[in-house]
Amino acid sequence: MDTASNAVFWQEKWERGETGFHEPQANPLLTRHIAALDLLAGAQIFVPLCGMSQDMVWLAGQGYHVTGCELSDVAVRRFFSDLGLTPAIVQAGPLRRFFAGSISILEGNIFDLTPGLLGPMDAIYDRAALIAFPEDLRRAYVAHLLSLTGPVPELLVTLDYDQSCLKGPPFSVSEASLRSYYGKAYTLTLLESRAVEGGLKGRCPASENVWRLSPLLPSS
Ligand SMILES: C[S@@+](CC[C@H](N)C(=O)[O-])C[C@H]1O[C@@H](n2cnc3c(N)ncnc32)[C@H](O)[C@@H]1O
Repeated sequence: MDTASNAVFWQEKWERGETGFHEPQANPLLTRHIAALDLLAGAQIFVPLCGMSQDMVWLAGQGYHVTGCELSDVAVRRFFSDLGLTPAIVQAGPLRRFFAGSISILEGNIFDLTPGLLGPMDAIYDRAALIAFPEDLRRAYVAHLLSLTGPVPELLVTLDYDQSCLKGPPFSVSEASLRSYYGKAYTLTLLESRAVEGGLKGRCPASENVWRLSPLLPSS
């Protein structure tokens, strides 16, 4: 799949309201393990492929500055309207920046985002972003992410299951694959693994895993 077809796939999902991945509350793996990133108060956290995730609200509530990136205009507008906020909107190259308080979302394709548009980040939080991409785009996504932020600490939530049970997304990402994507830049530590209650989509036994990625080289 190329990045353009991937974008059409997700835009259509939002237009049809097929957003079963959305969680009404902050993900417990985030709230339990954010401390593992050892962040300073007011740190800048990048949330790639953010959807309308409540994780951003929770992170902002902890005193962090949050910058998301999301393709869908529907998701971005709903995120702010559900909070009762009217965001300011400015053009940011080929993307648009929506912002209110300490949350800013760059609406557009992450592959069009540049380090200059994003600004310096202290950490990354990825839930259901890496695993949203099919295998052939995952490596490109990881390389692009690294080019955007440099090697900053990351909290990464993935799923591991038998891929023959479900087509995906979400895709299964094994530990070996993760190490092949990130191993040159990061040390990977599994912080917690828990069974998905009732199985993934009620069908496939799966584990949800949270990883800490610690840079091998400090960012400049
Ligand atoms: C599985 S959802 C996860 C959303 C969010 N992280 C969460 O936990 O609810 C993946 C999201 O990535 C967005 N997306 C997919 N490809 C993208 C791209 N190339 N650039 C920006 N956003 C993208 C989709 O629109 C969708 O909202």
